[in-house]
Amino acid sequence: MTESPTPQAAAIAPAQGKLGIMIPGMGAVATTLIAGVEAVRRGMAKPIGSMTQMGTIRLGKRTDDNTPLIKDFAPIAQLEDLVFTGWDIFGGNLYDAAKTAHVLDRDQLEEMRPFLEGIEPMPAAFDQRYIKRLEPKKIKTGKNKCDLANQIRNDIAEFKAKTDRQVMIWTGSTEIYITESAVHQSLAAFEKGLVEDDENIAPSMLYAWACLKEGVPFINGAPNLSCDIPALRELSKTMGAPIAGKDFKTGQTFIKTVLAPALKVRQLGLAGWYSTNILGNRDGEVLDDPDNFKTKEESKLGVLEYILQPDKNPDLYKDFYHKVRINYYPPRGDNKEGWDNIDLFGWLGYPMQLKVDFLCRDSILAAPLALDLCLYMDLAARTPALKNLGIQEWLSFYFKAPDTAPGVYPEHDLFIQNMKLKNTLRHIMGESLVTHLGLDYYGE
Ligand SMILES: NC(=O)c1ccc[n+]([C@@H]2O[C@H](COP(=O)([O-])OP(=O)(O)OC[C@H]3O[C@@H](n4cnc5c(N)ncnc54)[C@H](O)[C@@H]3O)[C@@H](O)[C@H]2O)c1
Repeated sequence: MTESPTPQAAAIAPAQGKLGIMIPGMGAVATTLIAGVEAVRRGMAKPIGSMTQMGTIRLGKRTDDNTPLIKDFAPIAQLEDLVFTGWDIFGGNLYDAAKTAHVLDRDQLEEMRPFLEGIEPMPAAFDQRYIKRLEPKKIKTGKNKCDLANQIRNDIAEFKAKTDRQVMIWTGSTEIYITESAVHQSLAAFEKGLVEDDENIAPSMLYAWACLKEGVPFINGAPNLSCDIPALRELSKTMGAPIAGKDFKTGQTFIKTVLAPALKVRQLGLAGWYSTNILGNRDGEVLDDPDNFKTKEESKLGVLEYILQPDKNPDLYKDFYHKVRINYYPPRGDNKEGWDNIDLFGWLGYPMQLKVDFLCRDSILAAPLALDLCLYMDLAARTPALKNLGIQEWLSFYFKAPDTAPGVYPEHDLFIQNMKLKNTLRHIMGESLVTHLGLDYYGE
């Protein structure tokens, strides 16, 4: 913490008591997050990949030499205070779910077995139309979608009695591709649609609605619309419950949003960018269905258009060919391999190629992002300057397809996103923004 908080910083409510994390979809990402937090709490491992736990922030001028850890600067909840619950369509406890996910070593899991066995997902609100490849085992039943959503509200209310503050993060499977329709356009239309069982209301929207109705922040780690519709943006603002999404930016798109800005700032042209993946986890199995893959494809395709702005740079980027594939390949499990072939061109139009082969681990990359998002959304909910804004665009650093205010294009460049995030922290803590202008180092 800074020694004497500024007026803005002082207005942020302290992170006192237990922070409850509610997770619809307790598969690979969720179990890796929860087991990982417990491993860190026990001193068995370091929270690598997490900005809130390991990142630093420069304050003041470069000559001030003042660069604290973010967690010592902003009033972020402590890992010791996190409590987890959630919902899934499969029975069993989180030890079983983590074993099925095959992300963490068996030995590491055994050490945390009693802790993981102590968490059992609640029955889910599910609709087979939205995820065709999975056979549900433990789901809620009710007379309509409103009834299901109210059951989720009751679950939230019970968890509220055991915790001091809450956030919800969707790490459920990717739902089939849908676009906004009439029922999504206002809260009134949405709530009528809940009662009328409107087919355009996806299960993830039931969780988002229930969560926001309870005044709890909602984060969407998958590419499906969920809270990114006018009705839920309205509810978010009315309730002062922040929202953020969509789709964790973990592997290939993370690297793409580093490389594409590099080509752009050097005025190098792009003829084509071919991205393909092999992935063998349950997420890969769900995405093997074309309707579910379409949701992911849309989320992954957007980034280059926004970064390269072909309309502003037609000589460099008009008509570049962008292809993204995900192939389900069981032997690899969660250890995804993502290839990129980039056909670029330079001075006088001479062609060049760049190849990237990222042998990554999907959930190992996603878990720290999910943790940071939960902690930052809790901070947003305690911060007067942020909580009533609805969408928390400053967290676009974490997403492939960041939600933005209508009419505002998303910022995809990872380093601009990083600067935006850190300047938001400086802003709420009453510190000067870092603009990188730096002329004053050279004055009289
Ligand atoms: N791992 C990554 O790197 C990464 C990156 C970006 C986005 N994502 C997204 O995060 C999500 C989770 O990924 P994962 O690898 O953990 O997948 P997973 O299949 O291991 O877990 C998803 C879980 O959601 C459950 N589920 C499905 N519908 C549900 C519902 N209506 N209610 C409650 N639970 C439901 C499934 O039963 C499953 O256990 C996916 O949408 C994925 O696309 C993952």
